[in-house]
Amino acid sequence: MSDTVLQQLDPQGVLTLTLNRPDKKNAFSNEQWRTFRAALLSAQEDPAVACVLVTGAGKDFSSGVDLNDFSQGNEEHPFEAAARTLVDFDKPVVSAARGIAVGGGATLLLHTDVVYVGDSLRLRFPFTALGLVPEWGSSYQLQAIIGARRAAELMYSSEWLGSEKAVDYGIASAAFSDDEVLPAALAKAREIAQWPISSLVETKRLLRDVHRQRIHAAIDAEQAGMARLAGTAENIEAVMAIMEKRAPDFSQFRR
Ligand code: COA
Repeated sequence: MSDTVLQQLDPQGVLTLTLNRPDKKNAFSNEQWRTFRAALLSAQEDPAVACVLVTGAGKDFSSGVDLNDFSQGNEEHPFEAAARTLVDFDKPVVSAARGIAVGGGATLLLHTDVVYVGDSLRLRFPFTALGLVPEWGSSYQLQAIIGARRAAELMYSSEWLGSEKAVDYGIASAAFSDDEVLPAALAKAREIAQWPISSLVETKRLLRDVHRQRIHAAIDAEQAGMARLAGTAENIEAVMAIMEKRAPDFSQFRR
């Protein structure tokens, strides 16, 4: 079994999934997306799982898609199937995030029901900075959660948010000290998990079904945008700049 997504089921019915590549700030490798998806699919069917808790090992939540495994838009990236599986997952999901939550590490949070963050949170929807478009249905889901004005501000500017603004904007449910965020999330997950699973599942469907089709439609539209922009000179400059730990220079493409 893969150790890049640790899985621990407690007797109270909480399955904790811990993204476990801390030296890469828990960037998701292709294998990790597949493991994450498989864990959700089996949790969906498992009568011992009432609630899922997603967190990251070490100091960070996740730095998103592993840039070394970036797709150039031809074959389907395993991210897509994992993303849609979380959208369709119908048991409650709690997340506990501290440190870096960027790209897929930020958009994942939008598909969890209760989001607890630590004081060190640095959250970013970095798609314009990458020369790309939003993913994981975030072009719809961020607006649904925080409203069109705030979503536009964050998506266009690729700004970094701390825990205070994340709570203020409603992306996060509550902020804690870094030491307290995981215990608080586990306590909330156990509080949820005490109730009948049938009721939790029906409730989640009621809360999600008004959005689900729109999220899938947004993913379809985003994939088309990604196919147009992935691999362009601007996108390559953005990724190279991150790899080379320097600021990107997009002015060269405006002459
Ligand atoms: N994919 C692959 N590797 C990643 C990664 C990613 N998304 N994010 C971080 N890493 C790796 C770094 O390459 C580095 O590896 P190294 O030690 O072998 O050089 C390690 O994780 C630590 O990251 P580093 O960049 O040194 O930390 P930092 O604190 O200076 O910066 C970030 C952290 C998250 C700001 C920066 O790593 C970053 O911008 N990463 C890309 C995030 C991103 O755009 N993700 C969206 C993809 S859709």
